[in-house]
Amino acid sequence: MTTTMNKGNNLSQNNSEHVSKLVSEINEWKKKRNAVILAHNYQIPIIQDIADFVGDSLGLSRQAAATPSDVIVFCGVHFMAETAAILCPDKRVLIPDLDAGCSLADSVTLEGLLAWKKEYPNAVVVSYVNTTAAIKAESDYCCTSGNALQVVNSIDPDKEILFLPDQFLGSWVKRMTGRQNLHIWMGECHVHAAVHPRAIDEKMKEHPEAELLIHPECGCLTPYLDRVARQDKGDQLKVASTEGMIVRACQSQAKSFVVATEEGILHRLKKENPDKEFFPIAEMSCQFMKMITLEKLHAALVNDQFHVTVPEDTAAKARLSIERMVAIG
Ligand code: 13P
Ligand code: SF4
Repeated sequence: MTTTMNKGNNLSQNNSEHVSKLVSEINEWKKKRNAVILAHNYQIPIIQDIADFVGDSLGLSRQAAATPSDVIVFCGVHFMAETAAILCPDKRVLIPDLDAGCSLADSVTLEGLLAWKKEYPNAVVVSYVNTTAAIKAESDYCCTSGNALQVVNSIDPDKEILFLPDQFLGSWVKRMTGRQNLHIWMGECHVHAAVHPRAIDEKMKEHPEAELLIHPECGCLTPYLDRVARQDKGDQLKVASTEGMIVRACQSQAKSFVVATEEGILHRLKKENPDKEFFPIAEMSCQFMKMITLEKLHAALVNDQFHVTVPEDTAAKARLSIERMVAIG
């Protein structure tokens, strides 16, 4: 028994020495390379803690566009690093694991979008930021969960809109803007689509005083909104991007929150609100976000890997759609 405990203690001591060595080397290499580390709100806690900026897709795009650093190490998924590469063609953008993809971005292909555009030749194309550079290049506007309503509201009401690729975000935008001429691509994120309205009902029964924070990619959102409308409990519910959730939790008078999004967000929610309680709706983990580890971040800086690039003609077209979004909100 004692031996096992000692072994356990040694292991955890070795592990914490290993972690502090990696952390101090990452900080040294960051200076040597004049690099900035950007991390999405779903990253593992240690990556969030070492990052220079942690945020949602919109906030991180803005940080990328504004950074004076030569190198951007993007701790997130591939489309996010691509967005940074599009916005900063003169910077070197690195992602610690090239396999960190996104099921939502994969739910629309370039061929699929081109065929859809042929069906609606006069429509305006609004693409969620969770898309590849090639899809953004074929879009008029980009949007994120933080500004999708503003982007759609800024478009001439008589114009048809093709909204892609997330069907749940699309339905929410259609509902909130009341726009009947908005057509929705039937894509989804496997993590958020799996959330069932029953899971929300059960959690809210356990914590009836809690406020509910839902990401608009959640599959439960549309039926849940119907119930909220019937029960007139709208002020207990906030549909928000990951950053919107952080802001809401900090500003709300509520002391507890039920959270319907990927579990990585809980780290910041708790860190910035130590006196409040957060209850995840279910186990929601994005395996792509979790591919980024401290070891891979260290290797990215030491070995100057893996470089994310976008061909200039694609980047130039994609940049227009992102810049239109950034100008709106
Ligand atoms: P946010 O822009 O809200 O951070 O969302 C990005 C994402 O990938 C959600 O699954
Ligand atoms: Fe993509 Fe879903 Fe992971 Fe977000 S949570 S990065 S949408 S797979």
